[in-house]
Amino acid sequence: MRLRNIPGSEEALYRSPYVIDEPKEVKGRWQEVFGNDHPIRLEIGMGKGQFIIEMANRNPDVNFIGIEMYSSVLVRAVQKLSGGRHVWEDTDEVIAEETTDEKLAVANLRLIRLDARELCDVFAPYEVEKIYLNFSDPWPKDRHAKRRLPSKQFLALYDKVLIPEGKVEFKTDNRDLFDFAIEQLPLAGWKADVVTYDLHADPALMEGNVMTEYEQKFSAKGNPICKYVIGR
Ligand SMILES: C[S@@+](CC[C@H](N)C(=O)[O-])C[C@H]1O[C@@H](n2cnc3c(N)ncnc32)[C@H](O)[C@@H]1O
Repeated sequence: MRLRNIPGSEEALYRSPYVIDEPKEVKGRWQEVFGNDHPIRLEIGMGKGQFIIEMANRNPDVNFIGIEMYSSVLVRAVQKLSGGRHVWEDTDEVIAEETTDEKLAVANLRLIRLDARELCDVFAPYEVEKIYLNFSDPWPKDRHAKRRLPSKQFLALYDKVLIPEGKVEFKTDNRDLFDFAIEQLPLAGWKADVVTYDLHADPALMEGNVMTEYEQKFSAKGNPICKYVIGR
């Protein structure tokens, strides 16, 4: 993902009612944030938010939390949720309007800026029903393997916050990363419920599929999309 410093992005995040600024303070109390006891699902590495915003719109009885490491990326999702009022792409325009009193049009969605390595500081055991990983960064060098979001190190973190029947769903067009992800499962004590190497050619698995930004881009180039659903 191309990263650039976006003027005003920090302030936009701080002022957006969708963004939880101090997520560690809410650990164990996320249902209070949403004001209901609906299940909580995360997307880790949500990018500009196309997937999680659409998932939240389609599933009003589920609470969604998008996690993204970079404010310059997260702010794009905030912009989408504000109805695209602000133009950032080729200007230095800084957020100058109200966002604080904005009513949440997508009431079952919150966003946090976080490095997923800190997941267990933000979510208590059994607080999460499902985790989505979409087109995670491949980190191709072997010495960076533990930074890959489907690595055994991250699976151990997911294990801590998920309910016992919790699932992780992972999509990517990167075959090397997907093969690595499959190899990690027995090492971390997980089992695959579903594995496909060509999601878009499988009508049953495509039912209800929500495309991410990267999925749209890479499937349009003809790349097959791999997906797994795993549990313990
Ligand atoms: C290749 S992009 C994919 C974006 C989106 N999920 C999609 O499919 O279109 C991967 C995103 O994951 C984020 N990311 C990578 N490592 C992360 C981590 N440890 N914690 C949180 N976000 C992370 C990156 O900043 C980037 O925005």
